[in-house]
Amino acid sequence: MSQENEYQMNLPKVLIPEVKIQSRVKELGEQITQDYQDREITAICVLKGSFVFFSDLIRHIDTPLSCEFLGLSSYGNKMVSSGEVKVTLDLNEPLDGKDVIIFEDIVDSGLTLEYLLKSFVTRNPRSLRVCSLLLKKECLKTDVELDYVGFEIGKEFVVGYGVDYAEKYRGLPYIGYIENEH
Ligand code: IMP
Ligand code: MG
Repeated sequence: MSQENEYQMNLPKVLIPEVKIQSRVKELGEQITQDYQDREITAICVLKGSFVFFSDLIRHIDTPLSCEFLGLSSYGNKMVSSGEVKVTLDLNEPLDGKDVIIFEDIVDSGLTLEYLLKSFVTRNPRSLRVCSLLLKKECLKTDVELDYVGFEIGKEFVVGYGVDYAEKYRGLPYIGYIENEH
C-alpha cells in the first residue's frame, strides 16, 4: 500500500458527507422545479465558492434556466469576514423582468448577501430569491431571508465542495472542518 502524503494526512474532518450533500442537493432541485414550474430561471452562481454546488444543483432543476456568473471576493485569505465585498466579475445580462435566484455557498454574517440583494433589487428583476448550501445561523448580523437552505451549521470554519481556505480544499467532495487553525 502506498504511504499517505502530508496532504492526505491533514485532510479536514468530515462534517457533512458526500452522500448527504448529494441527496439534499437533489431535494433542493426538486423543490425549485416545483416552485417555478415552467418559468424561466436566471440562475446566478456566486463565484468562487458556489461553483460545485451550482453545477450539481442545476442538473436537478427541471425548468428552463439560464446561468450567470458573478465573481465576489469578501475574505481575502482570512477566516473572518471583513464586511468588504469586491466584485471581481460582473453579470453579462440585465436582470430586468427576470425570475432570479442567487446561489451562494455559505451565508455567515449575511453581509455579502445583503450587499448583493441591495444591488440586485435596483436591476428590477420580476422576482428575486436566494438559495444557499450552508447557513451559519448563529453568525448572522443582518436580517436577510433565505428561500432555500441546504444545511444549517454551527460557527465552525468549513471547507470543501467548492468552499476554500486560502484557495485550498475546493475539490473535496464533502464539507469538512479544519482542526487547530485559527
Ligand atoms: P458573509 O458575508 O459573512 O455572510 O460571508 C459569506 C462568504 O464568506 C461566503 O460566501 C464564503 O465565501 C465565505 N465564508 C463564510 N464562512 C466560511 C467558511 O466557514 N469557510 C469558507 N468560507 C466562508
Ligand atoms: Mg461566497
